[in-house]
Amino acid sequence: MSSATGEPSRPTDLFASSPLHDVMYGHIHSAALRAVAVHRIADHLAEGPRTAEELAARTATHGPSLHRILRLLAVRGLFREDERGAFGLTQEGQGLRTDLPDSRHPAVLMFTDPMFRRSADGLTDTLRTGRPGFTEAYGASFFEYLAKSPEDRATFDAGMATLSGPVDELVAQSYDFPPGSRVVDVAGGRGGLLRAILTRDPTLTGVLFDQPVTVAEHVLNGPGMSGRYEIEGGDFFVTVPAGGDFYVLKHILHDWNDEDVLRILGSVRRAATAGARLLVVDSVLPEPSAPHPGVEVDIVMLMILRGRERTAGEFEGLLARAGFRAERVLATPSLPSIVEAVAV
Ligand SMILES: C[S@@+](CC[C@H](N)C(=O)[O-])C[C@H]1O[C@@H](n2cnc3c(N)ncnc32)[C@H](O)[C@@H]1O
Repeated sequence: MSSATGEPSRPTDLFASSPLHDVMYGHIHSAALRAVAVHRIADHLAEGPRTAEELAARTATHGPSLHRILRLLAVRGLFREDERGAFGLTQEGQGLRTDLPDSRHPAVLMFTDPMFRRSADGLTDTLRTGRPGFTEAYGASFFEYLAKSPEDRATFDAGMATLSGPVDELVAQSYDFPPGSRVVDVAGGRGGLLRAILTRDPTLTGVLFDQPVTVAEHVLNGPGMSGRYEIEGGDFFVTVPAGGDFYVLKHILHDWNDEDVLRILGSVRRAATAGARLLVVDSVLPEPSAPHPGVEVDIVMLMILRGRERTAGEFEGLLARAGFRAERVLATPSLPSIVEAVAV
């Protein structure tokens, strides 16, 4: 404590009310978040607050630096510093623990990974060229690169599974599949959504389709699932499984530009008989434009892929060109909506 008299300035109001400040410093917060996630600091706070020195001793990190990083993240509401200088987790910070079923840790590792950071760094060039920063930085398209990089593939699949888990349940409960239906989840990842759908009605059966490396890690072999699902690995630009009453594309079309979307929808249309239904599960951006959380995902698509988020009208146009009639848009209690279409 200083013996000097007087009060230092406390610019908290200025700090809290400056969007420019927040956006400008965004990468610092993101890097600090990655540092505590990589070193699994939150796992050591499960039983209560600890000082940075105590945490550093347990995690083989540098105490004074850890103190400064935790102080920053406390400003962002992830940690709380008490009067003896110990740090605890806030409700939001609990998501950083790896031992809880709803842990956000894999999603944090994915979004702060160099794959995403380097792609974001490329936005200045993307603004000139229209090309994704990922392709420029890594010399391959995102999914081609992942197919050859098992560690990064695991980071991505685990992050996606974490993000999708809660959403899968909410999407599954937002659509009533008629009893006995066969549901094909095209590029369904590890099968979280299909599992949520099949769990709701024991008469439903399903097919999980994705790239072979991804379906190899599927999560469908739980209780009550025996004999109710098939697993198929393949390339949706070539073909997708036939015979579905329902085809689901969740968070797929937003990964691709219009030309590629038409190729994917073409594969689905060739596999589906007339009358089969297609559920496109993606953000549906408001028309006319208005603030929507999907615009953040839209920029992720811009920097890593050639994809984009779309409006209902844009989905309707693409579906019509591929032989589907869009019939309605259903809200879900989560970010994506369901665009329901029928094969004509
Ligand atoms: C954004 S993830 C969405 C996964 C899942 N539907 C979900 O919502 O969690 C995109 C998926 O597309 C798959 N994918 C990418 N290219 C593919 C291709 N050519 N054929 C089949 N699946 C592909 C990836 O393996 C990945 O699982």
